[in-house]
Amino acid sequence: MSESDRPDQPRARRAATVDRYRAHLAAGQARVTTMLQLPLEESMSGALVRTTDGRELLNCGGYGTFFVGAGHPTVLAAVREQLERQALSTRLLLNEPTAYAAEALTRVAPPGLTKVHFSCSGAEAVETAIKIARANGRTRLLSMVGGYHGKTMGALSMTARAVYQDPFRPLLPHVTHVPFGDVAALADALGPDASDAFVLLEPVQSEGGVLVPPEGYLKAVETVCRERSAMLALDEVMTGMGRLGSWWAAGREDVRPDVLLAGKCLSGGLVPVAATLSTAAAFAPFDADPYLHTSTFSAAPVAMAAVRAVVGVIETEDLVRRAGELGGRLLPALRAVVADTVPHLVTEVRGLGVLLGVEFVDGHVAAEFLLDLLDAGIVVNHSMNALPVVRFTPPAALTPAEEDRLVRAVRTACTALAERFPAPARAGV
Ligand SMILES: Cc1ncc(COP(=O)(O)O)c(C=O)c1O
Repeated sequence: MSESDRPDQPRARRAATVDRYRAHLAAGQARVTTMLQLPLEESMSGALVRTTDGRELLNCGGYGTFFVGAGHPTVLAAVREQLERQALSTRLLLNEPTAYAAEALTRVAPPGLTKVHFSCSGAEAVETAIKIARANGRTRLLSMVGGYHGKTMGALSMTARAVYQDPFRPLLPHVTHVPFGDVAALADALGPDASDAFVLLEPVQSEGGVLVPPEGYLKAVETVCRERSAMLALDEVMTGMGRLGSWWAAGREDVRPDVLLAGKCLSGGLVPVAATLSTAAAFAPFDADPYLHTSTFSAAPVAMAAVRAVVGVIETEDLVRRAGELGGRLLPALRAVVADTVPHLVTEVRGLGVLLGVEFVDGHVAAEFLLDLLDAGIVVNHSMNALPVVRFTPPAALTPAEEDRLVRAVRTACTALAERFPAPARAGV
């Protein structure tokens, strides 16, 4: 064992890992870790992440992956059992785990979405949705300003952020981005006959900075799509599977999309998996030719065992309701802490269920807060399309002690931030 591999040498292990990243992975990641003296993650369970320097952090990050907690025993047992029996597929023969997973997921999906194609990432689920659109004659693609749908070439065409798009142009043609939350703008962009159009949006923009649209917006989008014969797809990669306190955001306004995307916590944070659900009508071209859209690792039995188990865990542990209740307590608690400590640095605290965002006056202060939170023992994520917004995506089943720890840590971090960025003195005070 080399010196740097010894478990009692956390600094040496970090230095060696950073060197390997610098040499063989994206050097920028190595630079950030060194500059900020970030620890290495070593293991996870439930809501906790353990680092190689022996800290135990509360995990409100993972880009929303750990809704059921990390390594949930039921999901882990299902994955282990399947892993030992058969991890991947022959791609010729059918298997039972895939059939069960598809049945379980479509059972809890919004009505009408009876078909599903499984893939390995959210972006791939978006690619599948775009191909469903094209196969149905939808050549005009519309998504929302500030929306995030991943970074493969098709998904990136729909992800409206120049900094990620510009180096890779030309992207897909005939893509339009319309303002989020503005139904009239969508109607204008669609025109009177949108039978050649496909609309993709997130019900709540997550990477866009946890933007919750006005109530009724989603229903109005559905209505305008139906009136103009546009195909409607909801990207619920982040908002789905219970995170907002409902199985799907679609269900909050009884919206029936043609296509719906799931990912992130779909496998309980154990195996990379995502899904594109669809109506039978929209899926018809894929039904007709089973080789039209395939990939070697699609619907891998080991991932399918996880999907089926996760649906079961969310149901038996009542996690949808618990996510709504936890978010209902956390949102006012975070607002109160911010109001007490850093009202001059925060423009808004918002969210739904356990998708919560704190918007700072600028991205620099938000980054400082993220590091203060890490010092206070909490992992969160920034927002890729909105740098001033720090996002909290805790598991739905935090214990009361973890919930209390989270709020106390936010107060500690806010207090530290206020010391470095004090409120300007008021005249006459
Ligand atoms: C709403 C939404 N769609 C799609 C994606 C892309 O998913 P992935 O990063 O798994 O490709 C993300 C990722 O953050 C997302 O938030």
